[in-house]
Amino acid sequence: MNTKNSICMHYKTCGGCDNLELSYEEYLKLKQDYVQTILCDFVIEKVEEIIPSPTTKFYRNKMEFAVGGTVDNIFIGLRQKGKFSKIVDLKECYNFHPKIIEVFDIVKLWMKENNILPYDIILHKGKIRYVSIRHSKTFDDLMVNIVITGSKYQFDYFEKKIFENLSAKLIEKEKIGSIYVCINNKVSDNAYTDEIFKIYGKDFIEEKINEIKYKIFPLTFFQTNTSCCEKLYEIVVKQTEGGNVLDIYCGSGGITLQVAKKVQKIIGIDSSKTNILIANENANFNNISNVEFENTNAETFILKLAKSKFATELSTIIVDPPRAGLSKRVLTEISESGVGKIVYVSCNLETLKEDLKTFVRFYKIKKVIPVDMFPFTKHLETVTVLEHK
Ligand SMILES: C[S@@+](CC[C@H](N)C(=O)[O-])C[C@H]1O[C@@H](n2cnc3c(N)ncnc32)[C@H](O)[C@@H]1O
Repeated sequence: MNTKNSICMHYKTCGGCDNLELSYEEYLKLKQDYVQTILCDFVIEKVEEIIPSPTTKFYRNKMEFAVGGTVDNIFIGLRQKGKFSKIVDLKECYNFHPKIIEVFDIVKLWMKENNILPYDIILHKGKIRYVSIRHSKTFDDLMVNIVITGSKYQFDYFEKKIFENLSAKLIEKEKIGSIYVCINNKVSDNAYTDEIFKIYGKDFIEEKINEIKYKIFPLTFFQTNTSCCEKLYEIVVKQTEGGNVLDIYCGSGGITLQVAKKVQKIIGIDSSKTNILIANENANFNNISNVEFENTNAETFILKLAKSKFATELSTIIVDPPRAGLSKRVLTEISESGVGKIVYVSCNLETLKEDLKTFVRFYKIKKVIPVDMFPFTKHLETVTVLEHK
């Protein structure tokens, strides 16, 4: 089979996608080769064939769209390839649900009618910085978050009515579960800050993965490709042994809650207070009682773990760190822990490679399973299964 790929009108200018001229099969082969090349110095029992994303079009459930231009010519879209200050005004995007174009049109018209300035990333002036959107694939529900400059006082006393008017326009046209405003005056270009408040609807939207329901709030970490995340989680569940399990870097309980059904007890830890609050809510939401979540950083937790009773029956440690990989302390403690199995979920092959150099002193690499969570981008997820020597 050689699937012809759809190429959007912004391809080459927009930084959103790569290699769209290839068929999906050709593109997957590139990624497979990349995994083999990067990990070629290790003895690996099996590098499995890459798990394709079930959908390569409209697959993302969250995207942050930058706002720029002038009030007469507003752009909403993604950064240009190689030109960070320029925005591609998206008329179509095959990464996210097509509904976004209508959302953009409503926001642009509302800005123009109310003379609201788009943000200028060079001058650090203007009002609207980002339109960030989440989409629940299961319930076809949108969460819209408008990222603005200013203050809560200014918003409450002078701007609220105008934003409520935007809300009314959005919900008239689209199925939107929730609308938030986030205030961000930082020079650095992050979309979110903690100063975030709801202006319409529910606090969260819901998603379902392999029968587990998740509440998704604006600041929740959630894997961005819902259908492929089902595959990723199935793999992790399959590779995990029974008994006690530890899920380090658990986010809002994504993996933890999937694995719970198979094990005696699982503890999830994450350094984000918000993630842990939501992880606990998600456990209650699903009536799962053999999980425990702790808000701490991996470095602190791992030191006290060795002394705990829980550690004596620990069968598997799951790690899913950020792109930087494991810190030196966590890497040393886990690789010297003697635990039978490590399941390492990684979104960065380069840092995985570095961490494996330490692991192989104590562990055999049983298999590496690449998963194409981010089709037609350079990003790749892998699950590496390590077994104690
Ligand atoms: C890739 S995400 C984990 C995703 C999660 N396993 C899931 O499937 O939803 C990485 C997580 O690591 C957390 N984190 C970052 N640094 C940390 C640290 N030093 N200790 C513990 N957690 C950390 C972040 O808050 C984030 O939730």
